[in-house]
Amino acid sequence: TWQIESLIEQQVTAIRARVGNSRVICGLSGGVDSSVVAALLYKAIGSQLSCIFVDNGLLRKGECEKVRERFQNHFKTDLHVVDASHRFLSELAGVVDPQQKRKIIGRVFIEVFRKEAESITDARFLAQGTLYPDVIESGGSPDGPAATIKYHHNVGGLPEQLGFELIEPLRDLFKDEVRRMGLALGLSEELIWRHPFPGPGLGVRCLGGITSERLHALREADAIVLEELRKAGLYRTIQQAFAVILPVQSVGVMGDGRTYEETIAVRAVTTDDFMTADWYPLPYDLMRIISTRIINEVRGVNRVVYDISSKPPSTIEWE
Ligand code: XMP
Repeated sequence: TWQIESLIEQQVTAIRARVGNSRVICGLSGGVDSSVVAALLYKAIGSQLSCIFVDNGLLRKGECEKVRERFQNHFKTDLHVVDASHRFLSELAGVVDPQQKRKIIGRVFIEVFRKEAESITDARFLAQGTLYPDVIESGGSPDGPAATIKYHHNVGGLPEQLGFELIEPLRDLFKDEVRRMGLALGLSEELIWRHPFPGPGLGVRCLGGITSERLHALREADAIVLEELRKAGLYRTIQQAFAVILPVQSVGVMGDGRTYEETIAVRAVTTDDFMTADWYPLPYDLMRIISTRIINEVRGVNRVVYDISSKPPSTIEWE
């Protein structure tokens, strides 16, 4: 840990020297990398940091509250939460093509983020959680399309467009170092070990048309999956797990009546690098609990199925 402590000290010194009295904006995604960047910047420059978190309406249950808790209550940053969920949902209405969804979500994100960033008039820098593997993946050129990958996934390409100078304090680090740094900075284990969550969020897990009703069902089902995995002590054995709402309705019975309702698929995979992945054999008893809870607790869902496909040839996400 002394190595991590000294790494933090080095970064803090470097950030202070570079930033001087200027203001820095940090976009938060709710994930590990951007949270570590923000915590590091907060340590280095405190009140000169402004954080922006865009609520796109495609977040998991409780995500927005957790970000507030972390960066408003714990670290007292100047946090700007932008509730753009209506904007996103109205632009996504009727769109079913996965790439189209990603494009819309990416475009609207940039528009919303830009507007908020421009409202912070004295900002000169924009901080981003690029890691060493991101740099390598994009060809290793330090200023090249550093963020072709991140462009789709995160905020990349944006700083230049907005005329900010870029700060990337995690650029030389691997994920495990970022995790240790985050813990040393006082971020919770829960956050540090969080499964990855894609930028387009529940948007690419809501197959078919995206509506607030379907998103609500998906969000509730997803929360049940994660809660039960944690209870069973399997959350960290599995690298990624989630619920998907399928574009399939099926017949069921409830009381004397016939239902025709939504289907939830449950996905859980183990993987070293997310390039290949194996489906994880959840214990039957756990599947039973998850299925029963989803069907009993989530309105509009009458069927739960389990995804037993590995990557390749499947992907981890369904879209
Ligand atoms: P796939 O589905 O390609 O996913 O096997 C591999 C990993 O990448 C994540 N993923 C994304 N992350 N924006 C992101 O930020 C995206 O558009 C996106 N698509 C997939 C996925 O969750 C998994 O961890």
